[in-house]
Amino acid sequence: MSLISKAPAEAGLVLVTGGAGYIGSHVVLALRDQGRAVLVLDDLSSGRRSAVPDGVPLVEGDAGDRALLADIFARHGVGTVMHFAGSIVVPESVERPLAYYRNNTVKSHALIEACVEAGIGRFIFSSTAAVYGMPDRLPIDERTPTKPINPYGSSKLMTEWMLRDSAAAHDLRYVALRYFNVAGADPQGRSGQVSKVATHLIKIAAQTVTGQRAELQIFGDDYDTPDGTCVRDYIHVSDLADAHVAALRHLEAGGASEVLNCGYGRGHSVREVLAMVERVTGRPLPMRIGPRRPGDPPALVAGVERIGRTLDWTPRHADLETIVTSALTWEERLVRQE
Ligand code: UFG
Repeated sequence: MSLISKAPAEAGLVLVTGGAGYIGSHVVLALRDQGRAVLVLDDLSSGRRSAVPDGVPLVEGDAGDRALLADIFARHGVGTVMHFAGSIVVPESVERPLAYYRNNTVKSHALIEACVEAGIGRFIFSSTAAVYGMPDRLPIDERTPTKPINPYGSSKLMTEWMLRDSAAAHDLRYVALRYFNVAGADPQGRSGQVSKVATHLIKIAAQTVTGQRAELQIFGDDYDTPDGTCVRDYIHVSDLADAHVAALRHLEAGGASEVLNCGYGRGHSVREVLAMVERVTGRPLPMRIGPRRPGDPPALVAGVERIGRTLDWTPRHADLETIVTSALTWEERLVRQE
């Protein structure tokens, strides 16, 4: 890990939208660990007040509320906006596309426009590998054509385009980070994934281990992959959070706008993940093979050359055992608290 770097005097506050959510709260922790001043804006529709650390101010409100944004920018010396607020469930985006375009795209438009008007020149955006859709070559680098196959991916890609075009026209630089499969929890136990209606593999495995689910279903074992199950590039949420801090330093140092994949550049199959869960717990995990889940690409692995060359970022938790162990520890804590 790089040493704590002093922020430039004019750096200002970091406004974190969605800072009470899973990834946003880990980024707030990483910023605080670096001694950075942070302000969270979250409507608490899926985030939790308790995920915001003591001493970090929380404005309860909508990231697309222009009057609120103008007020925040007038009162606080915001230097950078990090934008996490949004909707993230792929199948839900298929059922309610307009809700996704409103929540992810229209509100991002309001936020970007408010930044341009207030002269806030640095923006870090929470994007997704879903912008690539079903790529036919691995690893997926940032030049891979973007062809999202669901409204979630499209809603995020449209925000990337707004940032690209705004950066060309205005005094704005941005980093869009395209996340692969984010998992795990803060190693110090300060935050983790909370949502009960989880769809992500490692969260569901953790719920199964802790008895909240009777069994886990493997969505298809007849893919053209080494063991027949889908392959994904799982990245520890705290490493992802550090990548945001590195992106902030990049922009503060005058770095250019960038679109960067966030992963480790290596894949694990569903079976490998579940075998790791069994190894960590020392117990068999109740599971069965089910049908394929519609829209699942067989394999997604990030090309990470660009992020490696652009940001001063060294992952600290890049192994599956650490990811799974931290997710299970967090889930056990959640269950104890109920
Ligand atoms: N899986 C199961 N059983 C489960 C849950 C998941 O077998 O109960 C499998 C899925 O079929 C997939 C793998 O585990 O093969 C990973 O699935 P996740 O739902 O954990 O994650 P996805 O790869 O579907 O989603 C990720 C991000 C999304 C993003 C998407 C891009 O979490 O935000 O990649 O394709 F949109």
